[in-house]
Order: sequence, then C-alpha cells, then structure tokens
Amino acid sequence: MGWRADGAAGTLRRASLERRDLRPDDIAVRVDYCGVCHTDLHAVRAHSGAPLVPGHEFTGVVTETGSEVTRFRAGDPVAVGNIVDSCGACAMCRAGQENFCHEFPTLTYGGTDRHDGSATLGGYSREYVVRDRFAYPLPVSLDPAAAAPLLCAGITVWEPLHTLGAGPGARVAVAGLGGLGHLAIKLAVALGAETTAISRSADKAGDARRLGAHDLIVSTDADRMAAARDRFDVVIDTISAPHDLGPYLRLVAMDGTLSHVGHLGEVTVQVMDLLVGRKKLSSAGSGGRAATAALLDFCAEHGIGADIELLPSARVNEALDRLGRNDVRYRFVLDLADLDAAP
Ligand SMILES: NC(=O)c1ccc[n+]([C@@H]2O[C@H](COP(=O)([O-])OP(=O)(O)OC[C@H]3O[C@@H](n4cnc5c(N)ncnc54)[C@H](OP(=O)(O)O)[C@@H]3O)[C@@H](O)[C@H]2O)c1
Ligand SMILES: [Zn+2]
Ligand SMILES: [Zn+2]
Repeated sequence: MGWRADGAAGTLRRASLERRDLRPDDIAVRVDYCGVCHTDLHAVRAHSGAPLVPGHEFTGVVTETGSEVTRFRAGDPVAVGNIVDSCGACAMCRAGQENFCHEFPTLTYGGTDRHDGSATLGGYSREYVVRDRFAYPLPVSLDPAAAAPLLCAGITVWEPLHTLGAGPGARVAVAGLGGLGHLAIKLAVALGAETTAISRSADKAGDARRLGAHDLIVSTDADRMAAARDRFDVVIDTISAPHDLGPYLRLVAMDGTLSHVGHLGEVTVQVMDLLVGRKKLSSAGSGGRAATAALLDFCAEHGIGADIELLPSARVNEALDRLGRNDVRYRFVLDLADLDAAP
C-alpha cells in the first residue's frame, strides 16, 4: 500500500504497490515514518504519467532479510535515504561518494533498478525493499519520526557543512529556513560554527534562535544584507525557488564558498560576484554511505532530529499543499501506520 500520483492536479491517491521479491542482498522494511521533502512536491507537480510514489527519507523496522544479509535482522530499526544503489566500482563509489556514482546512483523513487530495470517507488508506502548496503542502522536514541528527515534534508546539508569546514571559528549562514535550512542550522551550531539564518520571514527569528542560530537576517532588509557583506566562510543556500545568487554571493567571505543545494536548475552568475573576494560557488546533494552513517552517529550524540509535524499518511495531499505555501515548521513527516487499515 502507498500513495501514488494519479496524474490529476498534482495529488496522490492510495494504491496497492508491488515490491520485488528479496534478492540475496536485500532487506524488506516496514516503513513507519517518511519525511515530506520539497523535492517530492517538485516531483508531484511535474508528474506526467510515469509511476510516481514519492518519499526518500524514511525510518522503519526490518521485516525480512535476504540470504546473504549479515548486517541486519528482522526487528532492527533502520533508516533509508534518497539513494538506494550505485555501481560500487567507479572512482566515486570507491571513494565512498556513492551519491556521485559515475553511473548515477539509483534514486529511491523515480529511479530505475540496476538489476531488473523496474521503476523505483518511494517511501510514501508501508513497505520498501532495499539493498542492505543502502540501509542504515537507526541509533536507538533517535526518535524515529524526527530522524526520518535526516536521511535527505540532513545529509544534503551535512556533507557541504562538513567538507567546507563548518566548525569552531567558522561563520556559517543558511539561506531559506525550511526542512533543509533548519537542519543546517542545528548541525552547523552543533559543529561549533557561528551560525546565522537568512530568511524572507522575519517571524522566524524566534525559531532561528531556538534552533541555536546566533542571528537571523531578513533577506529583504538591504541595510542588514549590506552590513553582512563578505562575512561568512560558508553559505548554504537551501531556497527552493529560482533566485538571484548575487545577494548571497556577496555575503561570502574571501575564499569562502556558497553551496547552492536548494533549487537545482539553471543559474546565472555575475563573475564579478565571484572575482571580488575569490569566492567559490558549489553544490552538493545526498551523501555517501560513510557520511550518512557518520551523520546519524553525530545526531545521536548531539540529540539532533528535525522539528516535525507528524501527520497520518492519509493527509499527504494537505502536507504537500501546505509545504507549497511555506506553511511548515519545519518538516512534515507522514506516519504510514494508517495504511494497515482497510481504506
Ligand atoms: N541537493 C539535493 O540533493 C537536495 C535534497 C533535498 C532537497 N533539495 C531541494 O532543496 C530545496 C529546499 O527543500 P526543503 O525541503 O528544505 O524545502 P522547504 O522546507 O520548502 O524550505 C525551502 C525554504 O526556502 C525559502 N523559500 C521558498 N521560496 C522562496 C522564494 N521564492 N524566495 C526565497 N526563499 C524562498 C523558504 O524559507 P524562508 O521562509 O526562510 O525564506 C522555505 O522555507 C528544494 O528545492 C528541494 O528540491 C535538494
Ligand atoms: Zn529530499
Ligand atoms: Zn559508481
């Protein structure tokens, strides 16, 4: 059972789904909680015919293991993110960056299974079958509902924060205070960086402080944006809509980096915004297996989960609608248990 795009007006409808029989290195997961990522909304809005079941950040419990699986047993708490396979042999895979696999990693939904060519269907469903290498033991100290968003939103901001040196002595800014943004703030703060939120919404200032941010700059406040010029070693841009990068590049310190992880479309850059200050423009997405496991450990150690609004999965269309209106603080998570009952 799951929630599938029915082609009409960007809505999802309950449907019964087929999952493959377990291969020797597969596990079956009972999906308990799945986060609602803005990418899901982009996918539902763009949907045109191909089977689409969104959902790529979920937690649950192992129900069955393939004959060669040794890492998991039935009953283990487990987490799955937005990639579920990769070639395993290319330089990126060998370097532990399966997310950048030269053959492109298999996406959790909207991808194509590497072995049988079937379309992958995501975690807005009660069951998922996944290659065991791409499932992660969920630390028991993490709340499984609040942990689900770590597997896409969390890892997507964790890799750039980590590799760009967010930590004591670094100044980090996070643009866009949504699912990715609020986790970027929590993680940057826990890593020890001085962290500032940049938002269109002045009324998020209290939340930003509660999340640990030292400051919030309203992006439409020209004076404050000008005063913050060249200030941040790392700017993580999580804004979900196309926008001018200039104002955010101007906040980057000399030799610092703007990591543009939000809107994954074409951008126009004035080279002068990079030239003045030798600034770097970068991007990132998802994470390698090792980094994902490290993120979960870090979050367990620091008690970090997403700030969530938990909804029964039958309210998925309401969640997508509200997400589209920026009416979420800060991640919807679907509770899939209602799929056990008859429709
Ligand atoms: N790189 C990857 O692998 C990856 C992974 C996951 C998601 N994504 C993408 O990352 C983006 C954010 O995802 P999310 O789930 O965090 O979304 P979200 O919860 O909707 O947050 C996006 C935030 O962007 C800001 N924003 C929205 N529209 C804006 C506009 N027109 N101008 C300026 N700011 C705007 C809002 O923050 P304020 O109210 O604070 O301004 C909003 O809270 C999406 O485009 C998603 O597809 C990429
Ligand atoms: Zn996502
Ligand atoms: Zn590869």
